[in-house]
Formats: sequence, structure tokens, C-alpha cells
Amino acid sequence: MSNNEFELLIRENAQIIENELAKYMNSKNDNGLCELMSYSLLGAGKRIRPFIVIEASKLFSGKDFNIKRVLPYACALEMIHTYSLIHDDLPSMDNDDYRRGKLTSHKVFGEGKALLAGDTLLTYAFEVLASNELVSDKSVRYATIALSKYAGFAGMAGGQMIDLNSGENISSFDELKKMHSLKTSALIKCAMVLGYLSACDTPNDKVISDLEAFSDNIGIAFQIKDDILDKISDSVTLGKPVGSDDKNGKSTTLSYMSIDEAQKQVDDLTNDAIKIIEAYYEGICGMHSLVDLAKYMVDRKK
Ligand code: IPE
Ligand code: IPE
Ligand code: MG
Ligand code: MG
Ligand code: MG
Repeated sequence: MSNNEFELLIRENAQIIENELAKYMNSKNDNGLCELMSYSLLGAGKRIRPFIVIEASKLFSGKDFNIKRVLPYACALEMIHTYSLIHDDLPSMDNDDYRRGKLTSHKVFGEGKALLAGDTLLTYAFEVLASNELVSDKSVRYATIALSKYAGFAGMAGGQMIDLNSGENISSFDELKKMHSLKTSALIKCAMVLGYLSACDTPNDKVISDLEAFSDNIGIAFQIKDDILDKISDSVTLGKPVGSDDKNGKSTTLSYMSIDEAQKQVDDLTNDAIKIIEAYYEGICGMHSLVDLAKYMVDRKK
């Protein structure tokens, strides 16, 4: 696939997801929470996780792919991701003022309401996930376990806990990668698994372990890149502050190596990831979109 075709696919999927997310933000009797949630949810996110859910669903559904069957799973995950960003930016965490190109939720609505926006996205995500009527109950049951597992103590929240406890004090790059794996790879794993579960309700252990290995690599690469961009990019391009990690005295990849060495880690992790997922595209003509996504993430500017 050419770069242009791939970027078109990213934009198309993002548009589909944003239209769908907007529909969920239209509740009556919501006590003003929909406005709070949509402020962050409908901001300028890259929609990488829902992209992965959709493209994994295509990979495993083949000619039976039906976007409607996967949208509730993709939207639920984007809600969880957005809640994690709102809370990550709070004064008691990274204390950042900008996100997705505008002021953070707590800067606009105050800390209490930003907490509630995050809480409500987190709970709403499970309603949205469970309302998927085009998959079997068994698929929904597995998806519910996956979403709670990858977002919870054994996943993203667990990674944020390590970040809070020992952000300045991580003893080695290997330890740092363990944190990256939880705080960032876990939701990417969730994206792959939800895409798979939209196509199949009897998950195969070997497939799950391959999807997790692929996601672990691209998730760690994604967070290393995020650490690099926090150092070398600018806030307009990123839509969030640069220098946040230094401000908070956080250990990041750049505490252990130079920018070039960190980029080499990104390249190596991505190549390992591609080897795993390429096997699943064998014999499939047309777009190998998850391979292209991994390559795209290596050179991303935001
Ligand atoms: C930001 O994720 C948090 C990290 C795990 C680095 P993204 O870079 O995907 O943020 P959005 O969704 O595009 O705002
Ligand atoms: C946080 O990592 C990842 C989350 C689980 C939210 P960062 O704190 O580096 O993410 P950014 O740079 O604020 O997006
Ligand atoms: Mg953080
Ligand atoms: Mg942060
Ligand atoms: Mg960061």
C-alpha cells in the first residue's frame, strides 16, 4: 500500500469512529456529562486504537467483514483511552495543560469535573461494548474480560501505577520497557484482541499470544517514540506540551540512551512486530494494513 493510500485509510477510519462516538454523546438527562466527555473524546485524537480494532477485524473476518459488528468494540476502547488521557493530565499526575490541541479537561471544567468525565467514559465504555448486538453473547463476554483486563491493574492502570510510584527511579531500560508494556502496549493488545473477537467467539490461544506479542512490540515502540517526541517536537504539532517528562523528572527512554539509539529501538521493535503479523497476511492480497500501521508509527511526527 502506498503512503497516500494508507493515510487515506487512517482518515477514513477516524471519520467513521468520530461519527459513531458523536452519536454516543447525544444522551438526554445526562446532567451535562456528555458535554464534558465529548470535549475530550471528540478532540483531535489520532484514533490509532480504533484503527487497529477495525483492521484486525478485517484481517480475521475476511469476506464476512461488517463494520457495524466492530464499531461498538472500537468506540468502547477509544472511550477508555480518552479517560486514561484525561486522568493522566490531572495536576496530581502529569499536570499538563494541553491535550488534543486544546486546553485539558481540568483546565476548562475544573478537577472534579475532569475526574467525572474520565469516570463516566470508563463506565460508559462497558455499556457500549456490551450493546454490540451483531456478535454473539460469548464474544461480548470475552470482550468484557479483555477490556477490563487490559485497562486495569494488569494493564494500563497498572502501568500508570508504576509510573506514579517510581517514575523518577526506574533502574534500567528493561524495567522501563516493562512499564511501557503495561501503560501503553496493554491498550494496543486490547485493540487487536477486540478486533479478533468481533470475528470469532472461540479465541485460539496461539493467535491471542501472537496478537499480544505483536502489540507488545508496537506499543513499546509507540511509547519510546512518544518519549522522543516529548523531547524534540513542538506543542503545536503534538497538540500537547513538550518537555512534560523533564518537568516531572520522569525516567524515559532518553534517560538511558541517545535519541538515535532510541529510534533504533523503535525500528528493531517494529521489525520484530512486523514478522509476527506478516504471517497472518500470508496469501491475502490487497492491503496489509497492520503491517503498514507498524511502519507508519516508526516515522510519526505526532
Ligand atoms: C497518548 O496516546 C498516550 C500514549 C500512550 C503515549 P496517543 O498518542 O494515541 O494520543 P491521541 O489519542 O492521538 O490523542
Ligand atoms: C501515559 O503516558 C500513557 C497513558 C496511559 C495515558 P504519557 O504520560 O507519556 O502520555 P502523554 O505524553 O501525556 O500523552
Ligand atoms: Mg503520564
Ligand atoms: Mg502524560
Ligand atoms: Mg508522553
